[in-house]
Amino acid sequence: MTSPKRLVVLVSGSGSNLQALIDACADPAYGAVIAAVGADREGTFGVERAEKAGIPTFVHRVKDYATRDEWDRALTEDVASYEPDLVVSAGFLKLCGPRFLEAFPGRYINTHNSLLPAFPGMNGPGEALAAGVKLAGATLFICDSGVDTGPIIAQCAVPVEDDDTVDTLTERIKEAERAQLVASVGRMVRDGWKVEGRRVRLG
Ligand code: GRF
Repeated sequence: MTSPKRLVVLVSGSGSNLQALIDACADPAYGAVIAAVGADREGTFGVERAEKAGIPTFVHRVKDYATRDEWDRALTEDVASYEPDLVVSAGFLKLCGPRFLEAFPGRYINTHNSLLPAFPGMNGPGEALAAGVKLAGATLFICDSGVDTGPIIAQCAVPVEDDDTVDTLTERIKEAERAQLVASVGRMVRDGWKVEGRRVRLG
């Protein structure tokens, strides 16, 4: 068996997507290990989950640096020091700068809670509800310099129910999103991937 691929996961919040990856990585057949978890703020449940699992963690807060560029450099250096094959933004609420994107070309991915290109940004489920769409969902994509604009790796849809609130829809999306993240990252680390223009091919 080839050695497992190394993931660095970035979080800002509850880290339920991270937890799904931690659980998946417990099986050696999954093909990945989480080398480190990074955050942009103190006290996240995501970092707590990592600590509980014995995974090294680091925190870089933008406000602790004189410029955004210095923050980006510190984050890039810390992530790079763990020599990741794949960097996963799992609810990481920061846009990384050009240095970061250049350090991990085609291997920095993000999961977003809408069916992109619809509803990019911070309020995917709320905007889906407001727009009255009947299908919502999640998108896994390769990050570029835009907000939720990169080439799409995978998407999954869930129904929008008549009595949904932002909370109920968000939870339904997150359940599908976690499964998609685990399945897609697993395929990426085991079978590889190719990016041709806007199209991503697994395997
Ligand atoms: C995910 O739904 C992601 O799409 C959004 O934030 C959520 C993160 O959830 N950007 P968690 O921290 O993994 O629980």
